[in-house]
Order: sequence, then structure tokens, then C-alpha cells
Amino acid sequence: MKLSKAKAAERIKTLRKLINEYRYNYHVLDVSIMSEGAADSLKHELTQLEDQYPDLITPDSPTGRVGGKALAGFAKIAHSQRMLSLNDVFNRDEVEAWVDRIKKLMPGFKEEYFVDIKMDGLACALIYQDGQFTRALTRGDGYIGEDVTSNVQTIDSVPFKLRQSDYASLTKGRTEIRGEIIIYKQDFRALNDNQIKEGKQVFANPRNLAAGSIRQLDPKLTASRPLRFRAYDLIRSDDSEISSNSYAYEALRSLGVAANRQARILLSVDEIMDFAKEWDDKRKRLPFNTDGLVVKVNDRLVFKELGVAGKAPRAAIAYKYAAEEATTIVKDIVLSIGRTGAATPVAVFDPVLVAGTTVQHASLHNADEIARKDIRVGDTVIIFKAGDIIPQVSKVLHELRPKSSKKFDMAKELKRQYPELDFIRVKGEAVYRVKGASGKLLLKAAAVHFASKAAIDIDTLGEKNVAALVDAKLVRNLADIYTLKKEDILKLDRFADVSADKLVKAIAAKKRPQLARFIYGLGIRHVGQQTAIDLAETFGSLHKLASATFDELNDIEGIGIVVAESILGWFADQDNERLLADFERVGVTPVHTSRAQGRLHGLNFAITGSLKSMGRDIAAEKIRSLGGTFQSSVGRDTHYLVVGENVGESKLNRAKQMGVRQIGENKLLDMLQ
Ligand code: IVH
Repeated sequence: MKLSKAKAAERIKTLRKLINEYRYNYHVLDVSIMSEGAADSLKHELTQLEDQYPDLITPDSPTGRVGGKALAGFAKIAHSQRMLSLNDVFNRDEVEAWVDRIKKLMPGFKEEYFVDIKMDGLACALIYQDGQFTRALTRGDGYIGEDVTSNVQTIDSVPFKLRQSDYASLTKGRTEIRGEIIIYKQDFRALNDNQIKEGKQVFANPRNLAAGSIRQLDPKLTASRPLRFRAYDLIRSDDSEISSNSYAYEALRSLGVAANRQARILLSVDEIMDFAKEWDDKRKRLPFNTDGLVVKVNDRLVFKELGVAGKAPRAAIAYKYAAEEATTIVKDIVLSIGRTGAATPVAVFDPVLVAGTTVQHASLHNADEIARKDIRVGDTVIIFKAGDIIPQVSKVLHELRPKSSKKFDMAKELKRQYPELDFIRVKGEAVYRVKGASGKLLLKAAAVHFASKAAIDIDTLGEKNVAALVDAKLVRNLADIYTLKKEDILKLDRFADVSADKLVKAIAAKKRPQLARFIYGLGIRHVGQQTAIDLAETFGSLHKLASATFDELNDIEGIGIVVAESILGWFADQDNERLLADFERVGVTPVHTSRAQGRLHGLNFAITGSLKSMGRDIAAEKIRSLGGTFQSSVGRDTHYLVVGENVGESKLNRAKQMGVRQIGENKLLDMLQ
């Protein structure tokens, strides 16, 4: 039965309210006011009503968490205030030294600390305007972060709207909430169990998974990951609104944002050490991973006055617990060949519990590392997890070595485990690599990557089809994919008329791939999706990229020496040169739509006064991201002067003199839409 529009509107309002109450109670107060099943069915009803009356959908509806359209990349945006990190301390002496330093800088310092559990996730800043969620940024380099709004929007514990509460004044104007995006240990395990069941690769740890999920270009994928947000900081343009860090936590919770309930006000180093001791054991029963505590001076005025040294505030430290260790036996050392042909030795263990998770293998990095530690099959080794993260072998217990053990011989093992491949070890390098790019195994991995969703996205060209095509010698290099003919494919058992047709059509449809996807698809070591986007934006064509110099590469933000060298190395390789020529021969031409072709290309903007919806830096960044130019002063070449509030006379007068067109903030927002 279809409700009338008025009735539907009313029902929608009630449903949203109830779902938000459920969300708030669940995430912030840890209370369940109804079962998950009941909440799901309310959401289902809401979705149905919104489907019937799409004009009743509002941006803050809880149904907006399913994930919107895929993005081409993440815009880079300046933080309102630098996102800092913390210096680590490991024992009482170091905590005391920190306090002494504060006392020296600030005679009469009255000890009052605010101590919280340090969550192991990734930092994220949420920006609210008049209580409405408008944007989320990653830390980036601390000054400039990446706009991950569409992904963060899918996280249930991030409210679309701050609650009106005793702290209502904090919902006026701009409010920034910083915190950590985390994944619970139990959710991580469940997800990995599922990966195993589906024969997919398991994720290394919750933090990597969280970081990887946030940097997905497809928000739908992010929505499918069990991410959570926990706040640890509240920022207002007027510092005096928030007197202490403990007050900030209270305010956060009351605004409807989850913050750890374990945080405490402590008054001395003794109390800090007691608290640290208490949590050293208890932390293992927390739902998320932690490797320590964060200790902050509670008074925010004092905090600010103490200032910053390097990348960290003087008024806060991270108290880190020692990594956990366990012993186990090395059952085997297997060699895994990456997409780029490097062979990595991996130790396989008797399963053992370390820092709350079962460890079954650890990378041994390379042959030199194995030789240095003299790790052999049969050895008993100590493994540890640095900060609850990736397991590593710290040392071999030689006393327990079985007499029969033999030194590990990498070259010999490569021959044994991969008789069909040839390897070389480049002089001065620790790594063994597959020679050429012709190894069947490598080619299969490369082709699967090339055809994958995030790269060229060729439907139905998955692992099994690739294997069949490579085995039948129909695909000898990546460019051969484009020469496949229906008649040839039909000779293979796997294909029938329809499926062969489908594959040929899918391939033909991808002869003009996006340059960034193509670059990513090449599988150059260290070149992930974002780097591929940056390269495409910088060079605009494959030819230009192929002849880029080290300095040109290194000058790109986010590309360091290692990545630059890897890119240079790839294009210097003759096999790859031939591959690119082959792509050209078969008619593959990657295309690039640059920012310069953006909507605001060629238009110059200046701003006077302040904008309501965003800071000037952010407006500038948005203008630039659409190809426009932001000018700090009005000139003859200015096309638009954006007039905000509290405007000074000088720019306005200049604009009038020069006949520059004036527009309001709303018009700008339209243009940026
Ligand atoms: S307070 C100046 N509290 O740890 C930064 N940070 O190593 C003050 N973190 O960047 C941050 N849990 O991403 C704070 N309870 C917590 C935290 C926490 C995790 C992260 C945060 C920060 C990093 C510093």
C-alpha cells in the first residue's frame, strides 16, 4: 500500500529520528535500544519510502550510507590547523623527563593530565558546518589532507548532524572533530574468515584494512567494510570555548560522537604509571587494537602555549607498550612472487597467539635478511608484533636448532619452488626477480591485475579465464589481450559462444582507457591508484611519463626517491618498452581528462570578506581542483570577485574600477557544485 506524500513525509521523519537515536545509543552510549534486526528493518522501510518519494530524500538521511558514485581521485585540501603526531615514550623515566621539560618551560605548571587509550587506526578530521557534516579529510602530510568525504559518509558512527544538546553553541559555525578510524578485532577476524572462504587474500591487520578501505575510490566498497570512528579532539575557531581536553570529550559525546569512555583525568606521574599498568593487561580485552596510551596536558590554554616541537605538540606524548613476543617453530620457508616479479621469502609457522591474533607466517623480507639472522626450517624463533601490527621474526634460538637443519639457499629454493621461471639478482640488490616478464605465472598475475576493476576493468577477465588464455598461449603479454579473436577463444573449453562474444566485446570497449587506470594497470612497483592518478595529472600522456626525469618524478607530492626510481626503472626496461609499443600497435590509446579541462578552466577568482560555508583556503582549493585560478588580489584579469561577509572596501573598490564581476557566496557554491 502506498502512503500519501504527506503521510510518507511524517513517517520518514519518525523513522529517521528513531534510527538516529538507535545509532547514538549504540555508538556513543554503548546501549542497544533495539535489536540490530529491528533497526535494519526500520532502515529498510525508510529506503522504500524514499524510493517512492525521492524528493523527500535529504542529505542527512541515514540511508545515505550505502556509498555514492565512484571517484576519479581524492582532492587535496589544506587543514585548518596542522594535524600533528606524537612523540613516543616507553617507560617511567621518559614520562618524568617529559613532565620536567614542561615544568621548565612553564614554571608553576599544575599537573593535570587527560589520558586515553591510543587507538591503532588512521587519523581523520570531520568538518561540520552549523552542525551538518560537510567534509572529511585524512591526515596527509599534516598540512594537506585528502578529501575522503564520500567514503567517511558511509561510516555509521559518523553523525550527519550533531545532536542539539547542552553544548548547542558548539553546533554553530564551524566545528572540527578529529579522531581515529578503526576496525574492531572481531569484525576484522570475521572479514578475514570470509576472505579465506572465498579463496581471497587475507588482510594483514585491522589498521591496514581501515586505511585501505578509506582510500578506495569506490565508496560502495568502503561501505561494505566495518569501519568505526572514535573522536579524540574538538576544534573551534574560538579556542576559549573549550577549556580542557576532558571537557572536549564530554562535549563530543553529548554532540553524538563516540569518544573512548576509558579516558581519565590523572594528577601525577604516579597515577599515569598506575593507569598504564592497569591497561597493559586490560587492553587485550578491548574491542580494538591499541599499542599504548595518549597522555595530554588537560588545560587547553597551557596545551596551546607549550607549542609544537618538530611534528609533535610538547603538551602530549604517546606512552607505548613493549611489543609482544612469542616463540614458534619455522615449518617451511616459501617463496612468494609478487606482481612485479620480486621473490619474497615467507616463513610458515606452527600457529601461535601473539598480541591477541593468531600468527601463521611472517615475511623474512629477502635473502640477506635470512642470512643475517640465519633462519632455517626447523628453527625455533621468537616472533613479535611491533605495536600489535605486522609479525616479525626477531631472533633464532640457536640452542633449540635440530641437528639436521640446513642453511637456507635462496637460489636453490627458487629453482625448486619455481622450476619454470628464471631469476636474476641485480648487483647490489637484496632481491631476486623473475627474469624478463615472460614467466607464465607472472604474466597471469599481471593480466589479472591489468583487467581488474580498479585498473582497466574488463568484465569476465578474471583469474580462471586469464589462466586459460595464458596456458593456451593466446596471451603472451598484456597487449595480446587486445588481439584476442572470438574464433580463437572458442577453441578453449571454458568458453561458449555467448561468453566468448561477451569477452571480446568487453575488451574492445576498453581500447581507450583512462590514463590513470592504465598506468595503475601496468603494475609498476609502488605505483598504487593514487600515485597513478598523480602521474596522469602531471604528465597527461604515456609518452611524457615514459620520458620523465628523476627530478620531475621526485618533485611530485607523495612521490619519493623509491617510487621515482621504480617508475624510471620500469620505463627503462626493454621488455616494457616493447610492451608499450605493442599496446600502440594494437590500437590502445589511454586518454586523459585533466583538471585543465575542468569546468572553471581559464577563470580567475578572488575573494573578499569571509565565507560562511568554508574557509578561504578550502574555497581556493576547490576552485583549483576544477581548473580555475585563485588570486589573492583583484587584477584586470580577475573574472569574478566573490563577496563574502565583513567585506573590506579596498578589493571592492578595485573591482568596481576595473569592472570585475562581483558574485555572492551562493553563486560560487553553484559554480563549484
Ligand atoms: S590525541 C597531536 N588521542 O595517534 C595529536 N590521538 O601518534 C593528538 N591516536 O595523530 C592526538 N588514539 O591519529 C589522540 N586517544 C587518542 C588517540 C590518538 C589514536 C592517534 C592519532 C594521532 C596519533 C599520534
